[in-house]
Amino acid sequence: MARILGGITTSHIPAVGNAIQKGLHDDPYWKPFFDGYPKVHQWIQDNSPDYVINIYNDHGLGFFLDRMPTFAIGAAHEYRNEDEGWGLPALDPFPGAPELSWHIIESLVADEFDITSCQELAVDHGFVVPMQLFWPGAPHHPHMPKAVPISANTVQHPIPTLNRALNFGKALRKALLSFPEDAKIVVLGTGGLSHQLDGQRAGFINKDFDQYCLENIVHNPEELTKITRQELVKQAGAQGTEFLMWMMMRGALGDEVTEITRNYHIPISNTAAGTLLLECA
Ligand code: DHB
Ligand code: FE
Repeated sequence: MARILGGITTSHIPAVGNAIQKGLHDDPYWKPFFDGYPKVHQWIQDNSPDYVINIYNDHGLGFFLDRMPTFAIGAAHEYRNEDEGWGLPALDPFPGAPELSWHIIESLVADEFDITSCQELAVDHGFVVPMQLFWPGAPHHPHMPKAVPISANTVQHPIPTLNRALNFGKALRKALLSFPEDAKIVVLGTGGLSHQLDGQRAGFINKDFDQYCLENIVHNPEELTKITRQELVKQAGAQGTEFLMWMMMRGALGDEVTEITRNYHIPISNTAAGTLLLECA
């Protein structure tokens, strides 16, 4: 049976993709951000996952406002990336794992999660920037795991509740643990922390709220389910709703986790950048 090794979260800011492309890791602006990743690289090298479940939010590349699935799961052999207009070169396709995708889809639908299965899915910066951060050179890293993308709607209201996100993660855990292959799986949650890109509050960041989320998500994620969606937008900013992805990831890890590393740095572009690595018992 498959094993869940742990979960890793990171912001997925497009400017990070540019910094990677230009090799700015030691630049004074970028260093405090990139310093959060060597411990993650070491852990990945020590644990060598076979599969990565990449929980992200599509921003308009895979889905648009006319068709907006609340939860979507990729079930393709590969996932192509495209030019979104951020000035980033499109990466080569990422290898998929359709057998694991369909297993997850079967299990989630049996558990009454109504999801959209996607036999074709273009993946945006929410998916690819974290892959580049965790597996440098992705998708051509020598130990690149096969990927299953899971996207949740944070773009068009109504978005899922934090409770729904956590429960989705718990159902995902059940699905992964019943995958009949002796495989090692890592779960990503990408996006966040607080940020707002548009409107009068553009540039809004809330350090106190971010710290509250970081503290509780490790050992007390249920506490965070008390936050309403309206409160989340107010406290984290319009795009800080991406914290839902962290909750989905956390639900998949089970009760017992060990924190391996965390990093928090503000700002990177318009965002409070957070990274967290939790290992499963
Ligand atoms: C930024 C952050 C995001 O989460 C995103 O999807 C796009 C841009 C930013 O801070 O620039
Ligand atoms: Fe985003």
